[in-house]
Amino acid sequence: MAKNTEKNELMEKVISLAKRRGFVYQGSEIYGGLAGTWDYGPLGVALKNNVKNLWWKMFVEGREDMYGVDAAILMNGKVWESSGHVAGFSDPLVECVKCKRRFRADHIEGDMCPECGGKLGESRQFNMMFKTQIGAMEDSSATSYLRPETAQGIFVNFKNIIDSFHPKLPFGIGQIGKAFRNEITPRDFIFRVRELEQMEVEYFVHPEEWEKYFEMWREIMWKWIEAIGIDKKNVEEHEIADGDRAHYSKRTIDFEFNYPFGKKELYGLAYRTDFDLKSHMAGSGVSLEYLDEEKKEKFIPHVIEPSLGLDRTILAILLEAYSEDELGEGTRVFLKFKPSVAPVKVAVFPLLKNKPELVKKAREVFEMIKKEIPQTMWDDNGNVGKRYRRQDEIGTPYCVTVDFDTLGEKAELKDTVTLRNRDSGKQERVEIGELTKMLKSAIL
Ligand code: GAP
Repeated sequence: MAKNTEKNELMEKVISLAKRRGFVYQGSEIYGGLAGTWDYGPLGVALKNNVKNLWWKMFVEGREDMYGVDAAILMNGKVWESSGHVAGFSDPLVECVKCKRRFRADHIEGDMCPECGGKLGESRQFNMMFKTQIGAMEDSSATSYLRPETAQGIFVNFKNIIDSFHPKLPFGIGQIGKAFRNEITPRDFIFRVRELEQMEVEYFVHPEEWEKYFEMWREIMWKWIEAIGIDKKNVEEHEIADGDRAHYSKRTIDFEFNYPFGKKELYGLAYRTDFDLKSHMAGSGVSLEYLDEEKKEKFIPHVIEPSLGLDRTILAILLEAYSEDELGEGTRVFLKFKPSVAPVKVAVFPLLKNKPELVKKAREVFEMIKKEIPQTMWDDNGNVGKRYRRQDEIGTPYCVTVDFDTLGEKAELKDTVTLRNRDSGKQERVEIGELTKMLKSAIL
């Protein structure tokens, strides 16, 4: 994180860069926006997809004990009754008697309105689920909710996975998808939003082994934090006290990131016991027990849940990557992304765009690299110095320039290009034949 940048200034700079360079735009912007919604632009989507792919590899595909699902966002309304969300998924809300603005009671100090100074009323519970009607019927049987967590789509598929794959405990089910929360006060850019994306695992274990697997996932979460380029020094574990945990949890550790607006939850790791499977078993009348064939033991598995918010991850990655230095003329802004998450890995330029022989050769180099590294970009706008600045600002780790030496102006440099490193600004001469292999190993 940039040390010489004041914390609130850092947030402003990241938000402005994110918009200017096409990472994140305000949702419905031309209509004045919609609070708590954000649209990811081309570079934001690429960054998000890189993070999702890495997560999927590390948490699902790269393991033998994991199964992936993509459950429907709309679910039978009874799911949310059984899961306890209808009764208990709420935040305390207070309303100003004078201006009628509403706030989260636990985000406010004292009993005065922070906007107009009026008196705040009594606190009451506000359910954060978005209610909706399914189909043309308007009675209560058609009521459902946009899912507030992806987890329930996993629990209702527990039996399907058992029946199709016959896995042995412990095993897990992973899912990436959208979730919706009618936050009373969405804030801090993409930190607290109303439409979010989660990457969740429900890991089913024998009840006596929950501690062992809680520790296993705790370690994996730290490895993940490193893998996406977040300095471990900027993350701290916070044990959630009895009474403060979600209704389903017997133990929760929050992984808090040092955001400019304070240390706040980035991820959660929870021991959900058998709460969910038991509740769905009672609610649906369908057995969700597991039979251990060898031990002839039948029981409801317990669950360890590493839950990772994607939007909060993207914000942490952007904040962590934002850097300024004095390379070249004036202050340079660059995003020091780990190459594996960078939305553009390589940019290829012809030294001059009005020299057809340079452009032709540069296009050949570009197409050669793009075949192997799809996140490769062509750039021929302005001069090379400006292109470097533009690529630095979006975090492109490597730039390749095709110049007259490439064409053989200096015979000994024929078929070589300039490869420039984002962080050091250093340039080296590399043979075209070696380039793709070299870049591939550098961006892993
Ligand atoms: N299934 C468990 C669960 O949903 P949670 O702590 O409520 O637990 C999990 O949410 C993660 O989802 C959080 O750690 C955070 O990363 C993300 N998250 C939750 N609410 C969010 C919001 N309003 N905006 C952005 N991310 C959010």
